[in-house]
Amino acid sequence: MVGHGKKMTEKIKIQGRQIVNGVVPISGAKNAALPLLAAVLLSSEKVLLRNVPPLEDVKTMLSLLDDIGVRFHTRVDSPYASTIELQADAVNDFKASYDIVKRMRASILVLGPLLARFGECSVSLPGGCAIGVRPVDLHLQGMKALGATVSLKDGYIHARSLHGLRGTEYEFPISSVTGTENMIMAAALADGKTILKNAAREPEVIDLANCLNKMGACISGHGSSIIEIDGVANLHGVDYTVVPDRIEAGTYAIAAGITNGCVDLMGGNFRELLPHFVEKMTQAGLIFTDIEGGLRAESSGRIYPIDIETSPFPGYPTDLQAQSMALLCIAAGTSNIHENIWENRLMHVAELARMGANIKVTNTHACIYGVDKLLGAPVYATDLRASFSLVLAGLAAEGVTVLDRVYHLDRGYSKIEKKFAGCGVKIERFR
Ligand code: UD1
Repeated sequence: MVGHGKKMTEKIKIQGRQIVNGVVPISGAKNAALPLLAAVLLSSEKVLLRNVPPLEDVKTMLSLLDDIGVRFHTRVDSPYASTIELQADAVNDFKASYDIVKRMRASILVLGPLLARFGECSVSLPGGCAIGVRPVDLHLQGMKALGATVSLKDGYIHARSLHGLRGTEYEFPISSVTGTENMIMAAALADGKTILKNAAREPEVIDLANCLNKMGACISGHGSSIIEIDGVANLHGVDYTVVPDRIEAGTYAIAAGITNGCVDLMGGNFRELLPHFVEKMTQAGLIFTDIEGGLRAESSGRIYPIDIETSPFPGYPTDLQAQSMALLCIAAGTSNIHENIWENRLMHVAELARMGANIKVTNTHACIYGVDKLLGAPVYATDLRASFSLVLAGLAAEGVTVLDRVYHLDRGYSKIEKKFAGCGVKIERFR
């Protein structure tokens, strides 16, 4: 993904051997906020989204909506959350330009809603991405199944459904999160019933379906792999609160585990949102306790080796793979991580190795031989989640770590200096 402006030059300095001890208010989920923002295009009425995280990816989605002609107003409720009022009653451009899509692939989420409501749209093809090829063929197949004509020209997807979309039965050959979300949004305004098979079961998909139902859609089965959508003629406005970010919560849980600390992850039922993660991290030596309004994650003083395989929900989230690897670098023994979702999501290995980690990679498999300690080093972020894995390694390491290309981090983690400061940890941003 492409960063921009002065952010490109920002770095973070992390003094090692700090202990993460305190309370972390978990923000709204990036991966829920993005489809919810796109869903605004499905109605001409006012939509109020609460608990929207202050992230670069959210800003990118807002600038895309702005280009399309959506009016919006942001109210900052706290350093960690905003309420955004949006209205798509004067949409005049059904296009997602390359300039924006190249910054954030989730821009593809406007395809389904634009097509369903306006009968046409052009969305730039996303192109390559650091963590893998990330094709959008399933999104296109799904739109075609709903009766749209889709063509590719000049690097753009041109989709049309001038006589409206028709309900269909579509089975995803592989589970796709944003693919499922695009189909749900398109089918919500289609004529007749749509049945999606092998649909993604992620909590963020459930959040989108819940919001659409509150807007008058008729969706059932979300959370299971078969989702049924009875199309309706219109959707109305809504006041909706974004689900908390399970990936952010998992990341700070690991921060406690890797630094021998303890964090209270506030704002959600993270045991339910991260079932497999909690089970695996318990095996790795973390202690989880339910507390009022959240979940406590505490180090037991030991880190045990474990084997992890990433898979779609409720499996181990790929978006926590890099951070988990940082923890396992200093486990008492050998761990294995198999990355099943993305074909190039082990780029952090080379950076962790610069900090003294001992990891052997074969294709998408990493064998992590635990070492006694990590050593601070200058490292650079290769993608969003990888960047936080290096912050975690830096906190546990001996000496100073300087993380370059911090713009990756800001796409998906809000106010990390402030959240760490609340846990007695100092990290410094500089240029
Ligand atoms: C979403 C998340 C991302 C997470 C990923 C997997 C958002 C905004 N992003 O991404 O953080 O890492 O789910 O949990 O929610 N695929 C195809 N063709 C397609 C679509 C996907 O082959 O048309 C493949 C991908 O290459 C990948 C797999 O399907 O191997 C899963 O991808 P998908 O679930 O679609 O990921 P995203 O929705 O892009």
